[in-house]
Order: sequence, then C-alpha cells, then structure tokens
Amino acid sequence: MSKKVLITGGAGFIGSHVVRLFVEKYPNYQIYNLDALTYAGNLENLVDIELASNYTFIKGDITDENVIESLFDTYKFDNVIHLAAESHVDRSIEDPLAFVKTNVVGTMVLLNAFKNCWNEDFNDKLFYHISTDEVYGSLGETGLFTETTAYDPNSPYSASKASSDHFVRAYGETYKIPYVITNCSNNYGQNQFPEKLIPLFINNIINNKPLPVYGDGNYTRDWLYVKDHAIAIDLVFHKGRQGETYNIGGFNEWKNIDLITLLCQQMDNKLNRVNGSSEKLITYVKDRPGHDLRYAIDASKIKKELGWEPSVTFEEGLKVTIDWYLNNKVWLNNVTSGAYKSYYQKQYS
Ligand code: NAD
Ligand code: TYD
Repeated sequence: MSKKVLITGGAGFIGSHVVRLFVEKYPNYQIYNLDALTYAGNLENLVDIELASNYTFIKGDITDENVIESLFDTYKFDNVIHLAAESHVDRSIEDPLAFVKTNVVGTMVLLNAFKNCWNEDFNDKLFYHISTDEVYGSLGETGLFTETTAYDPNSPYSASKASSDHFVRAYGETYKIPYVITNCSNNYGQNQFPEKLIPLFINNIINNKPLPVYGDGNYTRDWLYVKDHAIAIDLVFHKGRQGETYNIGGFNEWKNIDLITLLCQQMDNKLNRVNGSSEKLITYVKDRPGHDLRYAIDASKIKKELGWEPSVTFEEGLKVTIDWYLNNKVWLNNVTSGAYKSYYQKQYS
C-alpha cells in the first residue's frame, strides 16, 4: 500500500538513518524529509539517496504554523514520523527556551496540522512521535525504566520532550488522533554531531585534544547502535499498537568512564598509537548541572510484541562508528568548522 510519510528532522543523526531505511525499503511510499537544517541538520548525511524518485526534501521549520499547515494542504501527509528536535542536554541548559519552542511548540504545530488535515478521517493514518528515555528522570544503582515508569524529567531538554509526549497522548485522547510513542536510550553511530559523548571524544582523540569527563565519570547510560533504532522505528511504525508507548534500549549499560576507556583503547589500535596514549587525554571537568546518574531501559515489551532486539554488539558498533569517523574526515571537518568552534570554546573553556 502506498503512503505519504512525513519524516521531520530527517537531516539529523537518527532521522537520516530512518529516511534512508524507508526510502530504500519502501519504493512505493513517498518519503518527505522536513528539516530546518539547524547546526545539527546536514544534507551530506543523505547524498546517497537524494536523487531517489520516492524522496523529497523540504526545508522548513516545524514551529512555523503557516508553513506547516500549507505543507499538509499541499501534500496531504497521511503518516508522520516526528524526530525534529533540539537534542543536546548541555545546549538546553544554556538556552532552555529554544527547546520549548522546537520540542513543545513545534510538536503542537505538527499535531494541529495533522488533526486539521484529516478532520477525524484517521483511517490508515499515524502520528509517530520519537522520544527519549530521559523523560523518566534518573535511576539509582538498580532498576529499569518501563513504559509505566512515572515521568520525572530533570533537564530542560528532557522536560521539553516529556511535555511533547504528553501533548501527543492528549491529542490521542481528546481528538482521537492515532499515535504511537517510542522512548529510546542513547544512540551512537555514524553521522552523529560531535557534541555528544562518543563522536566528540573520537574527534578529540583524532586531534589530540583533552577528553572532558563530567564529574567523576561514574554516570551510566544504555547505548544503542543507531541503525538498530531505525529498524525498531520501522517495526513500530508498521506493527506497533496505536495509543501505545514502547521503550527501545540496547540492553547495554556502560559507566561513562568504562566506555571512554574502551573507546580510547580502540582508537589507539586504529590510529597505531602507543597503548594508553588516548587515555592520557582524559581530563575531569566540572559536572553538568542536574546530571542524571543512570538511565537503563527495560525493552521487553517491544521484544515480546514485535520481536525486536539489537542486532549489533556494542564492541562491533563502536568499531564501525570509529571507522566511519576516520574515513569521513571531510564530513567531520565541515561540521566542526564555523559555529561549532564558538560553541566548543564556550562549553569547554
Ligand atoms: P539531531 O540533533 O541530530 O537532529 C535533529 C534534527 O532536527 C536536525 O536535522 C535539525 O536540523 C532538525 N530540527 C531542529 N529544529 C528544527 C525545527 N524547528 N524544524 C525542523 N527541523 C528541526 O537529533 P537526533 O539525535 O537525531 O535525535 C532525533 C530525535 O530522537 C529527537 O527527537 C531526540 O529527542 C530523539 N532521541 C535521540 C536520542 C539520541 O541519543 N540522540 C535518543 C533518544 C531519542
Ligand atoms: P551525551 O552524549 O550528551 O548524552 P545524554 O546527556 O543525553 O545522556 O552524554 C552522555 C554522558 O556523557 C552523560 O553522562 C554526560 C557525559 N559527557 C561527558 O562526561 N563529557 C562530555 O563532554 C559530554 C558531551 C558528555
């Protein structure tokens, strides 16, 4: 069956993997990638599929009501996969309002446009909202986030994502829009902007720059390879139950300092440097305010209902990721020039 799928934020890290998967796997779908091309959006991520006949890129801002309403009028998107967001916790601490605008208001604008376009004729339609495990707040040393864990966000980023999740659910209850939400753990892989831990540290190791470890480094995250996330999104999109939330995770918890040590060892091997060279770059810096101690996902619902589980081990995924950054220095140099330099200076000086 043919569909007109609007993917927002498709020029970003996860979005570009989702766009590629859908364009290649579903030639009978029309895929529209709507992206404002902020610092995090990069059409270089999609050069290999940009000429596909079932793919259209639209430059636009999800917070612009007129633009979004008229795009729905023109294209009549029957399915939305909504990834566009401000996504970096440190930036949310610097500029929380930007996160409210894009993540909350932007989501509302999309929800309204979707609702107005279909006017209760919601058969075969879906609004799929992509969210994060960070909405659940922080765990202690034990326990896992399940789909029924109460929301308890601690950063402006996670509060804005929690708010957008609530609005999606509220539109489902109030206006009966068909929706599904997934809350995923930390992603890593190729094309991730080097402000997040793994690509930032890969880039710093390449350039022999300090590796800024926040606090004592004893914070824990669950890591998932981005292509496994894209596969999960495809499954939930087609087979997930409407009105449901699914947690997506890597079954792969790492304390930051242990992950960084592994990364340093793999980088030394790849760069033919003496063992221990990269670890010498580790520099403990001031902690992130409100730093969540631990995230860990119970992904048994999606595993049981949809048969999904990660296909790539962390060691394999990390190797592929490192290789990609080492083989794509032009991409890395392009995204770390200009505005990136002043961001880095401000954040880490
Ligand atoms: P990203 O920052 O790499 O990409 C975000 C994309 O959204 C960019 O292409 C950017 O240009 C676009 N965008 C930003 N503001 C926009 C606006 N106003 N209008 C249109 N486009 C806009 O983010 P990501 O890491 O790929 O995350 C994608 C989604 O997945 C987000 O909703 C994020 O909350 C969620 N998520 C991310 C992770 C992770 O580890 N990265 C984990 C769980 C959930
Ligand atoms: P990050 O990649 O920003 O993802 P999130 O905050 O959404 O989990 O950070 C992952 C972990 O790494 C988090 O505990 C903060 C820590 N971190 C550092 O120690 N130093 C850094 O420079 C960055 C960016 C993150």
